[in-house]
Amino acid sequence: MERLNETLNKRDTSFDNNLRPLAFSDFRGQDKVRDKLMLAVEAARRRGDPLDHVLLSGPPGLGKTTLAFILGKEMGVSVKTTSGPVIDKPGDLAGLLTSLQPGDIVFIDEIHRMQRSVEEYLYSAMEDFVIDIMIDQGPNARSIRLDVPKFTLVGATTRSGLISSPMRSRFGLNCRLDYYGNEELADIVTRSAGKLSVGIDKGGALEVAGRSRGTPRIANNLLRRVRDYAQVRADGHITRQVAADALALLEIDPYGLDEMDKRLLETIIYKFNCGPVGLGTLAVAVGEEQDTIEEVYEPYLIQEGYIDRTPRGRIVTKLCLDRLGINPSDARIADQPGARQGELGL
Ligand SMILES: Nc1ncnc2c1ncn2[C@@H]1O[C@H](COP(=O)(O)OP(=O)(O)OP(=O)(O)O)[C@@H](O)[C@H]1O
Ligand SMILES: [Mg+2]
Repeated sequence: MERLNETLNKRDTSFDNNLRPLAFSDFRGQDKVRDKLMLAVEAARRRGDPLDHVLLSGPPGLGKTTLAFILGKEMGVSVKTTSGPVIDKPGDLAGLLTSLQPGDIVFIDEIHRMQRSVEEYLYSAMEDFVIDIMIDQGPNARSIRLDVPKFTLVGATTRSGLISSPMRSRFGLNCRLDYYGNEELADIVTRSAGKLSVGIDKGGALEVAGRSRGTPRIANNLLRRVRDYAQVRADGHITRQVAADALALLEIDPYGLDEMDKRLLETIIYKFNCGPVGLGTLAVAVGEEQDTIEEVYEPYLIQEGYIDRTPRGRIVTKLCLDRLGINPSDARIADQPGARQGELGL
């Protein structure tokens, strides 16, 4: 089973890689972020300078890693990849930085998980392109200064709130990725279908897009499953009906909500009478960290209008109850004072 899971994961990754856009022209959506980065790349190239350091933040699967590689390609430099938890001592960082060619990109994924002690070494490397390393211990301890080639740091994080302010302030470009709209996702699905050599029409693409939680990675994964269905049960072409049948068979939520989304919403509804409930209390109730809820799960639910933030805490909306097929009286809203019903617009 372990082995099977490993194989499946590997297959997922290669699938992911095949569909990864390699240039800005292939990257759909996130117009503001893309424009900002394209401008910075163009300016840096004209000056012959390395690109400014870039911080990419936003929920999983929206294109942070993809953008890091696009930046490398557009700048014509190589991208060295690592991740926050992997660099566990300053020496690792020094080894990485001193092996670079001028202008190279260092991509640090999950940069919020880097240890503070290592982070401090990174500051001088980012700012002055030097790194001071302590060698030896005890009375022989001394620090030596190493020059590092001018490089670009691209940091990615799903939890921008956990980035320290000295770190944040060293990034010249700060880009926040947002959930994609249905039309943008449908474009991405159509492009991916082309790469996977399966026909899809606009209706089919929109059907897949609508259940993808605003996330290209989910859209691509659903597309692959719909493709299987289309090839086995239909004539290999994905129409709205084929996509809908396939996704229903796979029991994909019609609105793209995942398990954690549902757990959060149902907790607010059943345990807290539809709210208001404070973030801290909610976090304990679902067994998740506060800022993961705030930065990873909640933004989509708020954007789509499932929950509202009020001064007294989170509440679910009427739309949420409608979509989950919950009768307001089952949700015990009847127990609530009249004001609550006003808040819910019931
Ligand atoms: N704008 C886009 N256009 C087309 N495809 C995209 C776009 N953004 C992401 N993708 C697709 O979604 C997949 C996931 O994107 P990516 O790995 O860059 O996400 P991420 O933000 O780095 O996620 P994580 O936080 O989990 O590391 C990519 O393999 C790519 O195929
Ligand atoms: Mg990534």
